[in-house]
Amino acid sequence: MITEDKVKAALSKVMDPDLNVDIVSLGMISEIKIEGTKVHFTLTLTTPACPVKEKLEGEAREAVLALEGVEDVEMISTAAVAGQRKSEKANIPGVKQIIAVTSGKGGVGKSTVSVNLAVALSKLGAKVGLLDADITGPNIPIMMGVESYEPQAKDNRIVPAFNHGVKCISMAFFVSQDTPLIWRGPMLDKAIRQFLRDVEWGELDYLIVDMPPGTGDAQLSMVQATDLAGGVIVTTPQDVALLDGRKGLSMFKQMNVPILGFVENMSYFQPKGSSEQFEIFGRGGGKRLAEESQVPFLGEVPLDPEVRIGGDNGEPIVAKDPDCLVSQAFINIAKQVAAQISISSLNRTTEATPAAV
Ligand SMILES: Nc1ncnc2c1ncn2[C@@H]1O[C@H](COP(=O)(O)OP(=O)(O)OP(=O)(O)O)[C@@H](O)[C@H]1O
Ligand SMILES: [Mg+2]
Repeated sequence: MITEDKVKAALSKVMDPDLNVDIVSLGMISEIKIEGTKVHFTLTLTTPACPVKEKLEGEAREAVLALEGVEDVEMISTAAVAGQRKSEKANIPGVKQIIAVTSGKGGVGKSTVSVNLAVALSKLGAKVGLLDADITGPNIPIMMGVESYEPQAKDNRIVPAFNHGVKCISMAFFVSQDTPLIWRGPMLDKAIRQFLRDVEWGELDYLIVDMPPGTGDAQLSMVQATDLAGGVIVTTPQDVALLDGRKGLSMFKQMNVPILGFVENMSYFQPKGSSEQFEIFGRGGGKRLAEESQVPFLGEVPLDPEVRIGGDNGEPIVAKDPDCLVSQAFINIAKQVAAQISISSLNRTTEATPAAV
């Protein structure tokens, strides 16, 4: 006879390779129902952007089908991102995980990575917001095609712009485009806190924060204002960028923010229709830096003029051409980021769970 215990035992042989724990112990299995020779169950992944989604779904289904007497399996596959950890810092209601995209050096592609990461996560089924924390040089609105958005207020809260499946907020909505903003630390801090607290984000799985370059006031405010799930550090392959990447890393480390990993942007150029790759700025430095610093390497993004064109036209490449080489690189990076957050959420829960008494 098929029993719930037998189904659970079969499913507990399926391991999540990222989390290194079986899917039953992870609490991913629920709603087991047995109807004659048919078994129903629900698989709840830790993120809709799970890089091993198909593998886990396939193995779970196979494991149950292999049980004696089972002829049919109906599996509902869903996902639930874990919420922010409880801490003394203010959590943003409804926002589960906040990811800061940073770099030590300017112009390496933080905003490009933020935008495409946000669109990729949304395409993978997550609810996503994008906060432009580059208060003095905001360019998210142009890159997301929402530069003409006029912010509305609802119940005393700011309604974010919405495009390509992503909610966005930026200081550019509140100032005229030609006015350079020269802000000092306390004002900057206030603006960032307002963007976190007073924007009607609704329910978000991931809030991506595009940081200004460097390790200055904005970074400090972000880290102090809220509990970050972690930082993604963008670098390019040149030595100077790598050196600055190290600075970004040590800042996060000092402030106890988990490092989700390094992204190497502009790694190589591959002309359309060719398989030849030109390493314009060198290649592999980001990976080496990640290895040497013992943090994950999230992936490399090739140079592609379409990336810049997409940014300038408000149509991120991942939205415009999701199947091309560079979009696939961004989508894989999005999956790796989501997986790293699941790993660090799990580690936090196990650390926080007191030993059984
Ligand atoms: N992979 C890429 N291929 C082609 N162009 C790229 C790529 N990544 C970024 N760019 C272009 O390089 C320029 C700088 O990128 P971006 O604005 O994202 O950098 P940033 O790190 O946010 O800069 P800042 O430090 O000024 O905020 C932009 O014009 C962008 O379109
Ligand atoms: Mg930028």
